[in-house]
Amino acid sequence: MINEKLPRIWYGGDYNPDQWPEQIWQEDMRLFRKAGINVATIPDFSWAKLQPDEDTWDFAWLDRALDLLSKNGIFACIVTSTGAVPPWLATKYPEVLRTTFDGRRRKYGHRHNACPNSPVFRRLSTQLARKLAERYASHPALVAWHVSNEYGGRCYCENCEKAFRAWLRQRYGTLDALNAAWWTAFWGHTFTDWDQVVVPNILSEHTDETHTAFQGITLDYYRFASQSLLDCYRAERDVLRAVTPGVKITTNLMGAYKELDYFRWAKEMDIVSWDNYPALDTPTSEVAFRHDLMRGLKAGAPFMLMEQTPSQTNWQDYNGLKRPGVMRLMSLQAVARGADTVMFFQLRRSRGASEKYHSAVIDHVGHENTRVFREVAALGAELASLGSALLDSRVEARVGILFDWENWWAIEMSSGPSIGLKYVEQVRGWHAALWEQNYAVDVVGLEDDLSRYDIVIAPVLSMVKPGLAKRLESFVSAGGTFLTTFFSGIVNETDLVTVGGYPGELRRLLGIWVEEIDALLPGAGNSIHVKSPFGDLRGSYACGILCDILHCEMAEPIAVYGSDFYAGTPSVTRNRFEKGSAWYVASSPEPAFMSTLVRSLAHEKGIQPVANVPPGVEATRRRKGDESFLFLLNHGDKPVTAGLGNGKLTELASGKPVKGSIQIPAKGVVILREA
Ligand code: GLA
Ligand code: ZN
Repeated sequence: MINEKLPRIWYGGDYNPDQWPEQIWQEDMRLFRKAGINVATIPDFSWAKLQPDEDTWDFAWLDRALDLLSKNGIFACIVTSTGAVPPWLATKYPEVLRTTFDGRRRKYGHRHNACPNSPVFRRLSTQLARKLAERYASHPALVAWHVSNEYGGRCYCENCEKAFRAWLRQRYGTLDALNAAWWTAFWGHTFTDWDQVVVPNILSEHTDETHTAFQGITLDYYRFASQSLLDCYRAERDVLRAVTPGVKITTNLMGAYKELDYFRWAKEMDIVSWDNYPALDTPTSEVAFRHDLMRGLKAGAPFMLMEQTPSQTNWQDYNGLKRPGVMRLMSLQAVARGADTVMFFQLRRSRGASEKYHSAVIDHVGHENTRVFREVAALGAELASLGSALLDSRVEARVGILFDWENWWAIEMSSGPSIGLKYVEQVRGWHAALWEQNYAVDVVGLEDDLSRYDIVIAPVLSMVKPGLAKRLESFVSAGGTFLTTFFSGIVNETDLVTVGGYPGELRRLLGIWVEEIDALLPGAGNSIHVKSPFGDLRGSYACGILCDILHCEMAEPIAVYGSDFYAGTPSVTRNRFEKGSAWYVASSPEPAFMSTLVRSLAHEKGIQPVANVPPGVEATRRRKGDESFLFLLNHGDKPVTAGLGNGKLTELASGKPVKGSIQIPAKGVVILREA
């Protein structure tokens, strides 16, 4: 449980009382109670108000706001408010401002505006965190700490450059090791002094954001930049933890956010929380993927849905409304995939600045007679009726998909073979194939324990880090099914090619040698012809982007290419490796191929979908001890009837027994307790 004080699904969100006169706060409380809100994330971006200059502090208003919440039975996830520095701080210490990728020192403005390696920022941000911790350590409202806000971006200032050099010295020890790791003999880059190393940006190695002459340097800068922000988080966290050791600490992540290696971050967080903002046209499978990734960061532990919009955002190009029922559907999708909280940005819609057209529980009209408020209040009542039943229950899966930020970075900064290769799209393709058939799936990191899975899929595992190949071999030896795809096993952790034949360290496990890699033009394709039918896999499927041309060494060809000079050579292979098997899919296949192959692999392992429901219905199961809960979510626009077999089921909220089948309205959700 996140906190014993609040043993139910947390419901609420970002609250900015400091933007409003205090008379309004009373009305806020009335409306929050009416909406079933039990937690407020506060104070979001209030550094300037809490500390109007370096020697002055003002907590009185926050005392009053927290007391008022508490009197109204509402708890607080207290934010350290360091996500935006105040103007006085930037004027007094210009070094806190970030320098952009093109080398320009920013002026004061916006948020997420502090250089992570500024000693002044570190000192003053931790000071603020300490003041808040000491002041509110025993406040009855406090249930969790929320450090800063949506960490992100990179800085290229001189502080960062110096810190980068220090980080490199730590990592490599000697310049010889650094030169070897970066292959600096290329273009005469051999470094003879640490101070010759500069930040890789548009003024140095880059021709644009993604293209760098030295992948090794940029890769290390990405690692360093993610770590620098993480160090800011850790510094504040340590201060909070020392004062309130029992209170969980988090910061709000952003799903598949490229710039931060969230697997490293999650190790430092007590609980993962994240902000879910799909666009109107984001596929549901993608939202499901992001939830699974966020759940996977801490090996399946329940996470917090920290933010979502009640209806529309302001920052997309087209900020459509969530249609009636969709806010509930998306909230319960998060719970279905492992969230123990449902929280919004924001509770009251602001009057000015960039987020005034972002929806909120309380709209500009100021009263409760709105569609959005009614939907929020209805969900509040529904969640309250679930009590604590679902808390701490877990999604269980026998299929794991490997995801790795460093692979993502390396693949997409690579000069060749194709700019058409997008890492997340590849991972998403395999995830969606499982999701649409309602197979439970985890998205996990390279260091996670694989022994709990029967099937592990590692799309485009281009970078193989030390020890991984051995661990994958043990997984397969013990009987696991491993599947990887084209352009895998190519480089080591500093982006140096593993010579002696692709797929490098994975060659033994996969039993193949990839001789050449063809990159196809957009719109061009080849095909996969199944020669040895496997389960439902038969016939022909389209493929494209890259085509690895390979030789089977130990593996058997399952399918061959249909055209070009390599027609008839293997495009899908399987290698029996001790008790298990290792599959290689040598090109990027159409979705039907992935769906059919994962179904056939699951069948071979005796893995069933969570439920057999009509298409468009998402099914998940959460378990706690011997209790289990089945979620059925109808994403379609028409009601459906789902068959339920002979199990004894009751509707979780009402306790009503359900037999045989159940009707799920369009955009509807049912949560059933399985006996
Ligand atoms: C993010 C931030 C919030 C707010 C919302 C708007 O998630 O954390 O402060 O800006 O976006 O969608
Ligand atoms: Zn900096």
